[in-house]
Amino acid sequence: MTEPQWRVLVVEDDIPSAQLLDRILRHEGFEVLVAHTGPEALALVQREPVDLIILDVMLPGLDGFQVARQLRQDPATRHVPILMLTARGDLSDRIAAFEAGVDDYLTKPYELEELIYRVRALLARVARYREGILWRPASLPKGHVAAFFGTKGGVGKTLIAVNASVALAQRIHPDRRAVIFDTDFFFGDVAIHLNLPTTHSVVDLLDQIESLDEYAERALQIHEESNLHALLSPYRPEDAELITPEDVDKLLAWLAERFDFVVVDCPPAYDDRVLAVFNHADTVILVVTPEIGPLKNMSMFLELAPRLGVSLNYIFVVLNRANSNVGVDVETIERVIGHPVAFQVISGGRPVVLSVNRGVPFVLEAPNHRLSRQIQAIADFIVQRGGERRLTTDSA
Ligand SMILES: Nc1ncnc2c1ncn2[C@@H]1O[C@H](COP(=O)(O)OP(=O)(O)OP(=O)(O)O)[C@@H](O)[C@H]1O
Ligand SMILES: [Mg+2]
Repeated sequence: MTEPQWRVLVVEDDIPSAQLLDRILRHEGFEVLVAHTGPEALALVQREPVDLIILDVMLPGLDGFQVARQLRQDPATRHVPILMLTARGDLSDRIAAFEAGVDDYLTKPYELEELIYRVRALLARVARYREGILWRPASLPKGHVAAFFGTKGGVGKTLIAVNASVALAQRIHPDRRAVIFDTDFFFGDVAIHLNLPTTHSVVDLLDQIESLDEYAERALQIHEESNLHALLSPYRPEDAELITPEDVDKLLAWLAERFDFVVVDCPPAYDDRVLAVFNHADTVILVVTPEIGPLKNMSMFLELAPRLGVSLNYIFVVLNRANSNVGVDVETIERVIGHPVAFQVISGGRPVVLSVNRGVPFVLEAPNHRLSRQIQAIADFIVQRGGERRLTTDSA
């Protein structure tokens, strides 16, 4: 399966009509789910996200208006377009339909061609309305979450996370989307690396944590040069305290639903919020530098990791400043931390620091530099892991 499929739910109690719609929509390339009653439809959308709902009015138990109203009250389905099929086309009926929150309606009997046309128009309109930022077919599995972590400050986590994200955003298919989430809530500096304004940040979502889709534009930003989205940390450090581990959990679940790749830049120590990140991570990139003291901390972290719910199988060590001549070679490092070194990144010296200060990621400024190539390899690796997961999910 290459192209994402739109998933349409048909709510129709009349079996032959439901079967006909099912067949026609499948023929048009849609994935189709069918429910025969209102309660069945409401239960189904809780389990299976859908992109559009075709809703009959005359249903046993709850009628179509009641179902529409309930769908509109639930944050999970508030935005799903509803096309209502009404038997009676008089004005009061149509007004009642719109009042119940439907987006469009068709009066029975209708032409199938018109139905398909309206379905496509609705999907296109809603997709445009959502600016293409948040619209992601419900048939796609959850995005891949890659967390960059290190047990010490200043080892290069943010530099590598930002540059790997930019490289990743450039590499994936234009239909796919990537976001970087700065969870160094006190002193996050992803904004500086990407030269993004600090006017929008995760703080703007905290009082809307139950309806993130609606308020996303307040907080999410886009780095135009790479098409990478960003959810930044608070501008004022005192706001960092407002963010709970539950918030981090909900935000990450949401980002993974809306983006194909979610890169998380972590603070240099672990607390409950970092544990919430680990909970969602499919890949953990551990950044270390060749210094024995910090490496000892790292080995303690690796020992602890399984008890924190982080499987050693998805921890990958990046040795940053690998070429610093400090007399600690890779073999020694692997022995001290008891884990293989997956990637090495050289020190890029002053040009790298200058690029940070200018807010232009080094992989964009000097894509052929050895340091850029090493970081691009990390991006490729994450893309590949995301793809692998997607494949297994698809065939499951
Ligand atoms: N390989 C490298 N080559 C050149 N400069 C580097 C390299 N790695 C990191 N730096 C520089 O070192 C400084 C610290 O890096 P960075 O901010 O990425 O570390 P960090 O681990 O995120 O720190 P913190 O724990 O404070 O979040 C930055 O100025 C960065 O540009
Ligand atoms: Mg950092």
